[in-house]
Amino acid sequence: MRIVIGSDHAGFDLKEALRQWLHDAGHEVIDVGTDSEASCDYPVFGAAVAREVASGDADRGVAVCGSGLGICMAANKIPGVRAAVLRTAEDAEMSRRHNDANVACFGGRVTAVAEAEHALSVFLGTDFEGGRHERRVDLLAELDAEGR
Ligand code: RB5
Repeated sequence: MRIVIGSDHAGFDLKEALRQWLHDAGHEVIDVGTDSEASCDYPVFGAAVAREVASGDADRGVAVCGSGLGICMAANKIPGVRAAVLRTAEDAEMSRRHNDANVACFGGRVTAVAEAEHALSVFLGTDFEGGRHERRVDLLAELDAEGR
């Protein structure tokens, strides 16, 4: 898959680890930064990840900040993006099966590298169930239009 990844300073270490892990797993990775632990603003990088996914330039996105929360909020401001904070593999599975999530968000201060890698592997390997969930995801898309 073609995967875009980004983080703020608080997510930088985990972002770097996940970037390498994705590369080693054979994915094409687009890194939109940040590129150091110097303080920066998570909305900038959440939006950068989300825009790549919304435009179709990337199949999926990965966004990391300290908690995973702020960068997820930023990513979800971009129409077409369904970003979810993944604290567990169960979150990853349900975000894909029921919500067709296309951006995985992690908290570098709360989730260890191995746990994030596991959740990300589930996220990338789980299909959307469709069916009754399709209608609900379509309703999410209507909310995107409301925000314009
Ligand atoms: C940065 O200190 C921190 O606030 C940010 O990484 C994130 O956790 C916000 O939601």
